[in-house]
Amino acid sequence: MIVLGLESSCDESAVALVRDGRTVLAEGVASQVAAHQPYGGVVPELAARHHGSALPLLQEQVWRDAGWGADDRPDLIAVTHGPGLLSSLNTGIAWARGLSAAWQVPVIGVNHLDAHLQVAAGPDFPFPHLGLLVSGGHTLLVLRHEPFRSELLGETIDDAVGEAYDKVARLLGLGYPGGPAVDKLAAAGDPRAVKFTPPQVKGRPYHVSLSGLKTAVLYLLRGAHPPAAADVCASFQQTVLDMLVRRIVRAGEEYGCRRLCLGGGVAANRGLRARVEALRAGGWEAALPPLANCLDNGVMIAMQGYVVHTAGRGRPPAGNPNLRFGA
Ligand code: KG4
Ligand code: ZN
Repeated sequence: MIVLGLESSCDESAVALVRDGRTVLAEGVASQVAAHQPYGGVVPELAARHHGSALPLLQEQVWRDAGWGADDRPDLIAVTHGPGLLSSLNTGIAWARGLSAAWQVPVIGVNHLDAHLQVAAGPDFPFPHLGLLVSGGHTLLVLRHEPFRSELLGETIDDAVGEAYDKVARLLGLGYPGGPAVDKLAAAGDPRAVKFTPPQVKGRPYHVSLSGLKTAVLYLLRGAHPPAAADVCASFQQTVLDMLVRRIVRAGEEYGCRRLCLGGGVAANRGLRARVEALRAGGWEAALPPLANCLDNGVMIAMQGYVVHTAGRGRPPAGNPNLRFGA
């Protein structure tokens, strides 16, 4: 079964064709980073307009790359219907519904958060497993008992991990989005240069709070003798990764589950991937998303669409900016 996956929840438009929830036939992503850069963040109306023009172009490109003719059709259309920016979600949904009507092919809505983990897990990663989703908008640690039954163990009470990276990058003048720049500089710095207080939330061992750490970076940089940017990045990254790994290991012990699936833009972080490799060396089973599918993409939507559809749980898309994980 070939699924067309469409993504337009934030600032990336993406299209992909995936066979049987695992084999990518072709994919395309159009990033809007340049359009939003002057504003230092995503401007919703601008994003929606860009999705409207990008999706048809991406589709042409994907059809060409897959070696498909203009009359070739997928078996199913899967489109992100939340969470995200409502106007951007609705642009993708309108496009998907139009295709569905013109082609007489069914269309279903897909949860963007579930999809971020599914692109790592694929159809074969065993349950139960822990899922760590770290993106620009979300930070979640979940225990997935089975495909459609999961338990939220912890989430951020303020900034998402990717958002904290972006804010630290802005403080250092590294541009937007800043995650990749901080990651790169961190590799050249000394992670012990600055001793930050480990971020935690009293009484909630799996919750995450990053606003204090961000403020600590701000005061450090405003101080009389700010450390080199690379040392700040390395120390910040070390603090964040220590915090995440501590939660993973604790959950592994508490729930007797040494299996982890990672997802979201921050899953591209080299330091985080190295830490997950270290867990593997320590006996954990881990599923990492391919580097090309950490940031928002169409492959993850097609893969999640396949899982939902084959379980008989497909529903028409209905844009929901606040859709929760597993909903
Ligand atoms: O998953 P994603 O594309 O968007 C959301 O659904 O939120 O994630 C984007 C986030 C941004 O905050 C970006 O700075 C962060 O992922 N990111 C990284 C890296 N690459 C992207 N953060 C840390 N290290 C990276 N290498
Ligand atoms: Zn995302």
